[in-house]
Amino acid sequence: MEAYLYEWLGLIVRWLHVIFGIAWIGASFYFVWLDNNLREPPEWKKQQGIKGDLWAIHGGGIYEVAKYHLGPDQMPTQLHWFKWEAYSTWLSGMALLVLVYYLGSTGYLIDPARADISTTTGIVIGLGTLVAVMAVYEAMIRSPLADNGKVFGLMLFGILVLVDWGLFQVFSGRGAFIHVGAVIGTIMVANVFLGIVPSQRALVSVLEQGREPDERVTRLAALAKLRSTHNNYLTLPVLFIMISNHYPLLYGHPHGWAILAAIGFITAFARHYFNLRHRQINRPSILVTAAVMTALLIWVIAPPGSTSMAKNGTQVDDATVTTIVETHCLACHAANPSHPGFQSAPAGVRLDELSLVMTFSDKVRQAAVLSHYMPLGNSTGMTEQERQQLGQWLDAQQAVD
Ligand code: HEC
Repeated sequence: MEAYLYEWLGLIVRWLHVIFGIAWIGASFYFVWLDNNLREPPEWKKQQGIKGDLWAIHGGGIYEVAKYHLGPDQMPTQLHWFKWEAYSTWLSGMALLVLVYYLGSTGYLIDPARADISTTTGIVIGLGTLVAVMAVYEAMIRSPLADNGKVFGLMLFGILVLVDWGLFQVFSGRGAFIHVGAVIGTIMVANVFLGIVPSQRALVSVLEQGREPDERVTRLAALAKLRSTHNNYLTLPVLFIMISNHYPLLYGHPHGWAILAAIGFITAFARHYFNLRHRQINRPSILVTAAVMTALLIWVIAPPGSTSMAKNGTQVDDATVTTIVETHCLACHAANPSHPGFQSAPAGVRLDELSLVMTFSDKVRQAAVLSHYMPLGNSTGMTEQERQQLGQWLDAQQAVD
């Protein structure tokens, strides 16, 4: 019963996290789009301090949007702020991190073959990394580095790759991926909380007092712009990481950290194309390069066609494979798992008959032969020889097909 309710809790928090995330990124995409589509307004609007306007149709009505240089002479009685989208995304994401990785099966977070640490140590490293990277970022953006956008961007990328590599040394592939995502998400929400919203508050406050923004307010606004540019480039990588935990072929790869770094680069680069295009600069070569890099990556990390090391004709019989699967997989991958942490077969993968093992042959090969992702955290102590036998048996079956 407990495991059952726990699954529901995870499901509901995940669902909320996705909804909040859509609200946040959706609003962010929308405002980037607005800013990039503002056109020069007619004279009468200019005299009111409006610097750009645009017209749009949606949901059966026409909208007129106007953006002021700073603000209207008289502040509106109701001003909408966009911040809870970001905060609720982060809060629900942290709740999910705790539920799945810190309180859930340790196999998600820890791979004893890589680093045999306790869950507590893992949590300290995970949360410690979030706080530390955010602190470094905050120190950087408050330093003269903030005046050099390019160097800042490169350094940020370098730091994230370093964190990515480091986390791969201590966590399971999946645990490392999600923590890189959480680090990026934390930087993004801190940008809203510590930079963008305070700068907006400062602006509203001077406008309400009918003053012109002083140097401090202008500086805050410039930094808020830089923060928002960073968030813009980070959206695609962070979304990618969030969905990548369905793909062991990425995080289960021995060089998972390098794959993540490559994908982070490619997705941020692709975002650059859209940012330029919004500014009326069309550079399709960027998208083509990103596509070529993706194709190269897919090719480079492709698993070998055959998994059998021993080509000496050793036959692995069905009985051996049945024993391997029973010993190492069935506690979880059965119709009614005996493992207390699972209510039904994880990922919908049931392996309680050899024909089912064949049905999932590609995934089984990826999860238990090519990578050591399965059995989760190698809790059953599956040996290299058993992995090879499973691989040879799968190859032989496919050859018969
Ligand atoms: C301790 C429980 C546990 C054991 C034991 C276990 N698995 Fe899994 N398995 C899981 C969980 C949990 C998932 C879902 C992981 C995810 O969503 O990333 C999973 C997912 C899978 C998947 C799907 C991966 C995908 O592409 O989505 C395959 C295939 C798989 N396991 C094969 C195996 C094989 C083969 C064995 C035995 C050698 C095994 N598992 C042992 C818990 C287990």
